[in-house]
Amino acid sequence: MSTIPKTDNPAGIGTTIKVPLSRQPYEVHLGSGTRSKFPELFRQFGRGRAFWVTDRNVEKAWGSELHELGATPAANLFVLPPGEDQKTLATVERLCRRWIVNGVERGDTIVACGGGVIGDIAGFSAACYQRGISFIQVPTTLLSMVDASVGGKTGVDLPEGKNLIGAFHQPLFVLVDIDFLKTLPPHRLIDGYAEVLKTALIGDLTLFDFLKSGGQQQILKGEPQALFKAVTACVQFKANVVAKDEKETDLRRILNFGHTVGHALETSGGFQQLSHGEAVLWGLCAAIELSMFTGTLIIDKGGEIQLLLQPLLEHIPALDFDPQALYQLLLHDKKVLDGIPHWVLLEEVGKPVIRKDVSQPQILEVLGRLKLKMGRL
Ligand SMILES: NC(=O)c1ccc[n+]([C@@H]2O[C@H](COP(=O)([O-])OP(=O)(O)OC[C@H]3O[C@@H](n4cnc5c(N)ncnc54)[C@H](O)[C@@H]3O)[C@@H](O)[C@H]2O)c1
Ligand SMILES: [Zn+2]
Repeated sequence: MSTIPKTDNPAGIGTTIKVPLSRQPYEVHLGSGTRSKFPELFRQFGRGRAFWVTDRNVEKAWGSELHELGATPAANLFVLPPGEDQKTLATVERLCRRWIVNGVERGDTIVACGGGVIGDIAGFSAACYQRGISFIQVPTTLLSMVDASVGGKTGVDLPEGKNLIGAFHQPLFVLVDIDFLKTLPPHRLIDGYAEVLKTALIGDLTLFDFLKSGGQQQILKGEPQALFKAVTACVQFKANVVAKDEKETDLRRILNFGHTVGHALETSGGFQQLSHGEAVLWGLCAAIELSMFTGTLIIDKGGEIQLLLQPLLEHIPALDFDPQALYQLLLHDKKVLDGIPHWVLLEEVGKPVIRKDVSQPQILEVLGRLKLKMGRL
């Protein structure tokens, strides 16, 4: 079923999407200019006082606006350095100690305002602080709007791998304002686009057709209507999946399409050489290749997807990796159960399938092809 809204609404685009979890349902308020609704939404859904967490780049671009929304430096706004290397237990400790000093109580609320890194760190810290306090997501990157801010997964990395320490902690609400994307560097739009393409491939044929017929270029140019369409479709899709499978059994695993190889590449590059989105794009490339190689996806369809992927891959960094070593990293992934990697592959666009019977030689062959491809670009 398509999740693209039927009508465009250029003047003040906006919509509200429900995440209908049985225990704690919440809403995603999405549009252009929605940040001004924060005080009203906080009055309605917030608890206690708001304590904001952001990073230096977001503060630089949006600090005065955050100030207007009630975030005051040194009082209730904590600014972390940017970057994936902040996603550590050490940052969680630092943040929680700052909250103690600033008198954050169990009845207060943390506002995570930033990309997926800030959402994951602040959300996980909120899940742990005094055994759990409320939090709100205000995503500022395309990646966090279409994926990270919805669904309640929070966590930090270990040197051994991505997101290996974490908790499910659902926000009170999510406030998505696509205006934040105006200050996002273009290569960060590509990062978020990786998750948009993932969503189209696993669940939304109409979104896929839109991307094929010019949507991809419009999104990467930052056109508001295209961004609104894509973000709405992705949030709606994720809300549906998460509502059916909050704690990730089989259904929610489809959201990991492209992430098994993606996470391994990210880890292999020490979280420095490839961003999450870039690693996911390469991971999607590997997952399509593996889907074709194992006969799960017909070659023609795979080729059509590769045509869409190819121009993106030419714009992102590659990695020189050892397929054997990457295979070992794959075995640390959370999608490995009883020592067997559970692969999310595609049967066709919109039809993902979980396969446990992919052999080591098949995986190594595809990793070898990926290495060659990276070497050629
Ligand atoms: N929890 C989940 O379900 C989930 C899902 C997907 C990804 N993730 C995680 O999200 C992280 C990646 O998120 P990301 O791609 O948003 O990275 P990020 O948070 O590092 O943000 C990317 C860069 O953009 C800057 N930035 C953010 N908003 C900006 C703005 N509006 N203007 C200018 N600069 C801005 C940041 O400072 C940073 O330098 C990874 O750690 C990944 O594991 C989590
Ligand atoms: Zn992802």
